Amino acid sequence: MEHEKILVLDFGGQYNQLIARRIREQNVYCELVSCDVPIDFIKKYAPKGIVFTGGPNSVYEENSPHVSREIFSLGVPVLGICYGAQLMAYTLGGKVDHAELREYGKVDIRYEKSMIFDGVDENNVCWMSHTDFISELPEGFKTTAKTEHCPVAAMENAKAGFYGVQFHPEVLHTKQGSLILRNFLYKICGVSGDWTMSNFVKEQVAAIKRKVGNGKVLCAMSGGVDSAVAATLVHRAIGDNLTCIFVDHGLLRKNEAEDVYRVFRTERGMNLVKADAADRFLGQLEGVSEPERKRKIIGAEFIRVFEDEAKKIGKVDYLVQGTIYPDVIESGKGKSAVIKSHHNVGGLPSVVEFKEIIEPLRDLFKDEVRKVGTELGLPENIVMRQPFPGPGLAIRIIGEVTREKIKTLQDADFIYREEIAKAGLDREIWQYFVVLTNSRSVGVMGDSRTYSYTVALRAVTSIDGMTADWARIPYEVLEKISNRIVNEVRDINRVVYDITSKPPATIEWE
Ligand code: XMP
Repeated sequence: MEHEKILVLDFGGQYNQLIARRIREQNVYCELVSCDVPIDFIKKYAPKGIVFTGGPNSVYEENSPHVSREIFSLGVPVLGICYGAQLMAYTLGGKVDHAELREYGKVDIRYEKSMIFDGVDENNVCWMSHTDFISELPEGFKTTAKTEHCPVAAMENAKAGFYGVQFHPEVLHTKQGSLILRNFLYKICGVSGDWTMSNFVKEQVAAIKRKVGNGKVLCAMSGGVDSAVAATLVHRAIGDNLTCIFVDHGLLRKNEAEDVYRVFRTERGMNLVKADAADRFLGQLEGVSEPERKRKIIGAEFIRVFEDEAKKIGKVDYLVQGTIYPDVIESGKGKSAVIKSHHNVGGLPSVVEFKEIIEPLRDLFKDEVRKVGTELGLPENIVMRQPFPGPGLAIRIIGEVTREKIKTLQDADFIYREEIAKAGLDREIWQYFVVLTNSRSVGVMGDSRTYSYTVALRAVTSIDGMTADWARIPYEVLEKISNRIVNEVRDINRVVYDITSKPPATIEWE
């Protein structure tokens, strides 16, 4: 089914995916595409509205990204945000200047009467992050908001359907920012809001049925949200013609492998093959302590185990992958330095023969994938699962990986997760886990000396894992976690808390 669409032109700002997510949250489908797409693409796309994102450039610099003026004669409403607003002003004959001081952070703003601010409190707070500012409006525009240092915090030519905001309505610090976006979508672009996850499930199930017919489908299930939701969706469409292979490398968190088996095999009756391959993985990892080698070994072994299992199943027609929209957006971008060789299931297509790959979640953001999971009746511990690296606990055990160390880490990590959930912090923290360091230190337990391991607690807040800040967990919660870990887990006598953000550190320790 064709949905109403909004096109978001990406000028390289840090909040751009967030803009797209906020639009989707309003039940409107949108896509984020590079700002240099040809005008013919935009015409063919036939959006109900166009959004220009922020970006790091200055519009008056020679090499800064621009748009064809023709975009403003398509009869489609346009919303420019930050750089996007400046670009709109500049392209339509206004003026943009460089300010002495950067305006950054939460700023008081005063909105005037406007369709885009309908229902929004007049005296308000917005999030600013800019140095350039619009100093002269293009013809036909008027100013609709001001802050102390920004003479044009918002502008519009309502007749033409062109709106610009200097602030960031997509950032939660902008109060009522979602309402501003919603007004643009519903009152100005005139959308009806046809993008819902229950529609998505119905459409996808029908489309998968049509495509696959009576063909055989294979899926590598990791226990993570994306592959779990993708497999469940395909299962709803084709039932037993789907086989899932779940490789248990022995490096999962406590009870995790059993949970996955119970939810998908026992409760939902899915065709799930569990490969108990801990011996194979741990055998290969013996004596290895270098992080990149661990990652490579696990990635390669994963593919071999999967291949062995797939051979037992025989011929398949389709392979399901849990690719999601941020993967699609990221893979369209230039290469950055390899900090860590991430392990995912990207190598699988080369070891199984099949006609085609099915990626039912390719258009969805993570929060939408979770909603689809809930829609399909998956339990909360699967749907809300925090990101977990493919190489599992192997990269949370510094140095050599042994069975004993895995058990120690699993037990400590389980306590940590339990206490974070009890404190009600599990939703606001992006990732929280224990790292087993290879340092031992002296302690005292009862009247005896101990010489045991130190564990580090890691907890970060983040939007997308690309940057992260350490989470400010209350001292009382940390105290409880520390007490429980040293009392209940053998071989740990010291707990430290990692207070480094990313960058300069990474989220994982290896
Ligand atoms: P870093 O440590 O690079 O992690 O800051 C960023 C995010 O990626 C996860 N991560 C991985 N995910 N395979 C994955 O699927 C991997 O090899 C891998 N390594 C790190 C990490 O947990 C965090 O969410």
